[in-house]
Amino acid sequence: MDPVVPSQDAAAIPLWDGAYDPTQLQGHGNLWGDPPVPYAETAARLFADHSAKVVLDLPCGDGRNLPPLAGGASILLAGDTSPNAMAIAERVAAKAGIRDKAIFVKVDAFDTGLLDNSVDGIFCWDLLGHLTNPEDALLEMYRITRPGGHIVANMWTMNDCQVTDPNIRKTGPREFIDHFEFYCKFYDRDDLEALLSSVGMTASSIDVDTWWEPPHAEYRTYDHQHESLIFTVEKTGT
Ligand SMILES: C[S@@+](CC[C@H](N)C(=O)[O-])C[C@H]1O[C@@H](n2cnc3c(N)ncnc32)[C@H](O)[C@@H]1O
Repeated sequence: MDPVVPSQDAAAIPLWDGAYDPTQLQGHGNLWGDPPVPYAETAARLFADHSAKVVLDLPCGDGRNLPPLAGGASILLAGDTSPNAMAIAERVAAKAGIRDKAIFVKVDAFDTGLLDNSVDGIFCWDLLGHLTNPEDALLEMYRITRPGGHIVANMWTMNDCQVTDPNIRKTGPREFIDHFEFYCKFYDRDDLEALLSSVGMTASSIDVDTWWEPPHAEYRTYDHQHESLIFTVEKTGT
């Protein structure tokens, strides 16, 4: 029988878990550092303004965005496929005093196991650009969002620092493999609108945000500037 060859997106899951392995972090507390991305606060306000009860941070990674997101909901689901990441995220949540609000769940963005219409908001940061099949992840997130709820997600632009990282290699138009062997795709507004349209979605807003981040443990060892398109999709229907 032919072996089952995992898709590129499935194959990245254990690689990610390895990246958060405490022995790989060589004494650093976490992979991404503590400062949340600025847009997490904006998303939390949007969720709160729509009286969100349950917000899902997917993927939560090692938890940098959990503290601002906790302000946007009564219950914060923190989901990721990496147990190593979530172990760190749990400590980050405890340190920020929001542990009681957070529920950590092993969740695959392609198959969350959550019921239809079960969350009020999803914050999806730095995942879709790593996926060769973002369409199916978007459809799954839409399925679990309640009508009137929101998905807030980002896609890196070609102005993002990763494009000029000395260790990234180009494999196609706007497509790269980084030095951890993670797939990265960069989008312009037309690409993003085409992606959303291909899955029957329209963004209610698309913003461009640029911000600086300090070094990330072994992953990116210098101050760097990110740029993302950040889009919000509101689920329609009743
Ligand atoms: C670049 S990190 C971003 C983490 C977090 N959103 C942040 O901003 O710090 C990508 C994360 O996606 C997770 N991941 C990869 N594939 C996934 C999947 N299919 N479902 C859920 N999480 C996944 C990885 O474990 C990793 O934590």
